[in-house]
Amino acid sequence: MSSFKDLRIVDNFYQTSAFFPMPTILISTLDEEGNTTLGAYSLCFPYYIAGKNYYAMILECRNSSNTAQNILRTGKCALNFLEDDPKDFQTTVKLGFPGETPKEKMAKSNFVLEKGQAEGVRPLVIQKAYQVFECTWDDQLEDAYLDKSKVGQLEGIEGPYRNFNGVTSKFGCHFILKIDKILMKEKFYNAIINGVKANNFPRVPVDYGYRDSTYFWYTKFRRPRKEPIPAGKEASVDSVMYAANRIDDKIKFTKEACQMITKIPRVFLKAALTQMVDYAREKGWTLIDVKEMQEIRDKRSKEKNK
Ligand SMILES: Cc1cc2nc3c(=O)[nH]c(=O)nc-3n(C[C@H](O)[C@H](O)[C@H](O)COP(=O)(O)O)c2cc1C
Repeated sequence: MSSFKDLRIVDNFYQTSAFFPMPTILISTLDEEGNTTLGAYSLCFPYYIAGKNYYAMILECRNSSNTAQNILRTGKCALNFLEDDPKDFQTTVKLGFPGETPKEKMAKSNFVLEKGQAEGVRPLVIQKAYQVFECTWDDQLEDAYLDKSKVGQLEGIEGPYRNFNGVTSKFGCHFILKIDKILMKEKFYNAIINGVKANNFPRVPVDYGYRDSTYFWYTKFRRPRKEPIPAGKEASVDSVMYAANRIDDKIKFTKEACQMITKIPRVFLKAALTQMVDYAREKGWTLIDVKEMQEIRDKRSKEKNK
């Protein structure tokens, strides 16, 4: 017998039929007069994270919202992430109330705005955000640019609908948002570059959505915990050396260099070794020892830094 109850799946299942942890993001866009307006959003997640020629987020929203209308019209937005502060969450909920014009909404916001760093005409960003993603809608995927002609239809848009980009249902929209810039406050920038500790994470709350037609529920930030990778998962030096020295017949690795990369998971090892060999070839090296491995690491962390 199952230890679970079978729950009916209904509209907005993530908050009506489940407990789904979500981020809280204030999205800035430009209204018709070119002023920045803010909308509250949780259904916004990483979409292209590697292996494509750009990085992207996906946003799911009501197609009659100011945010959706502004993205359809201008293609630009900024995702502002705030730290945990009950007053800010209260303002966020006010900015999440449907049916108000940007002017009416912005009169309720006390967030100081400033210019971002991406090129072109862009909405302003929230000064106190710990990070901001400045984005451009990829309206080429699924020919979604054709949906620009549907701007202004606020009572429900008739089909046909797109599957994942543009107007996707009578009241819904999905946007694949290319990330143009990630702006980070210095403290967290340093944490990413120099390594995180429990006390240098931003204090991020978790949103559990709108429930029982009454409240938005969210949790207070808690100091993060850490869990090391499973014991015994490290590869033996000998097996790394065996794999490393089969990549190229002229470029070889010393045992000491291989010792430095035993923590790379098996499934990624070949790709990582191939990149190292490509770099060695560029440099004219025939042996990768500790010094060369260190240089490869420094190069990677510099790239991260950029
Ligand atoms: C914390 C929070 C999260 C929300 N997340 C979403 C969401 O992911 N998608 C959505 O369509 N509406 C979401 N809403 C509701 C929108 O904020 C609401 O439709 C609002 O009118 C949007 O503002 P805008 O019209 O200025 O874009 C959320 C509201 C709050 C308070």
